[in-house]
Amino acid sequence: EKGGYEHFMLKEINEQPRSIADCMRGRLDAKNGRLVLGGLRDYMNKFQNADRIIITACGTSWHAGLVAEYLFEEFARIPVEVEYASEFRYRNPVISDKDFVIAISQSGETADTLAAIELAKSKGATIFGVCNVVGSSIARATHAGCYTHAGPEIGVASTKAFTAQISVLTMMALMLGYQRGTLTESKYIQLLNELEGIPSKVEKALTMNNNIEKIAAIYKDSRNFLYLGRGYNFPVALEGALKLKEISYIHAEGYPAAEMKHGPIALIDEEMPVVFIATKDTSYEKVVSNIQEVKARKGKIIAVVTEGDIVVRGMADHVLEIPETAEAFVPLLSVIPLQQLSYHIAVMRGCNVDQPRNLAKSVTVE
Ligand code: F6R
Repeated sequence: EKGGYEHFMLKEINEQPRSIADCMRGRLDAKNGRLVLGGLRDYMNKFQNADRIIITACGTSWHAGLVAEYLFEEFARIPVEVEYASEFRYRNPVISDKDFVIAISQSGETADTLAAIELAKSKGATIFGVCNVVGSSIARATHAGCYTHAGPEIGVASTKAFTAQISVLTMMALMLGYQRGTLTESKYIQLLNELEGIPSKVEKALTMNNNIEKIAAIYKDSRNFLYLGRGYNFPVALEGALKLKEISYIHAEGYPAAEMKHGPIALIDEEMPVVFIATKDTSYEKVVSNIQEVKARKGKIIAVVTEGDIVVRGMADHVLEIPETAEAFVPLLSVIPLQQLSYHIAVMRGCNVDQPRNLAKSVTVE
């Protein structure tokens, strides 16, 4: 059932070209400039005219929500708030019938997310689910939704569900931007074409770094890791850190790279591996200066870069390449080597990768 892989997690990491394609199948048809999300049809009006989009989720799904904040604000120009379900539900939040709430959950059974949905529903908001498990409690509790179709995810650490969530949210943001007129037709078509090519770029990202096991072997006994990124790669930094801590039990923190100098920079010395996501995008130059700041303090630098980058390669101790794509789609590629790195570190440390201690696949208690 592991399809020849040693662990479900590795199988699921490697399945991503297919799971993302499955998620987009029947929905995205770039050649004909078409994007259809059946679940959104009856609610497109509400979505388009929402005052605000509130995204609620936990863990990795919350990270997908953060990526969506950048997507919705860039393409559709609607303000977005991303909320930990556990905080949102107990805060007496301000919600109205002009709010469009998106709940994201792989399992569809997370207790806090379910409670956040019930609360928002009672205040009149429209609730849209992005779930992987068909017929799950969250899928049933929402007004409408869109399944991620990633297939069963067995490994406790979420991998293919995360990229499928981002794929659905990306399609939603593009549709919304196009309908609202905040995204021009030509840009929309260009992005649809790029999105359709993502599964093959993920395929390439999975195989282009044969140095990952070597890097894992060097840093597997580190006590701490820092993950830094900006813009669309800030949530990816959080996700990279979560993947490492949950399966390898190494303490890891993700931060927006610019926040480093407001505290975490104090941690940096020659023992500290710092993973930068430094792809060629609008924050590239800024990230390059953040890398210099870490280097000046003798931190060890592992950088995820755009294929062919030579500037960061010249500065970093190790680089992991990903293919070039539109800035908004980079998380779908930049997370891949981070999933692989955490997997190999955990295996080398002898950890139970598929069933890490103290964790459950669905958190049905608060
Ligand atoms: C991390 C992980 C958890 C889940 C979280 C939410 O790898 O698996 O952080 O993402 O418990 O679960 P779902 O998405 O099922 O609501």
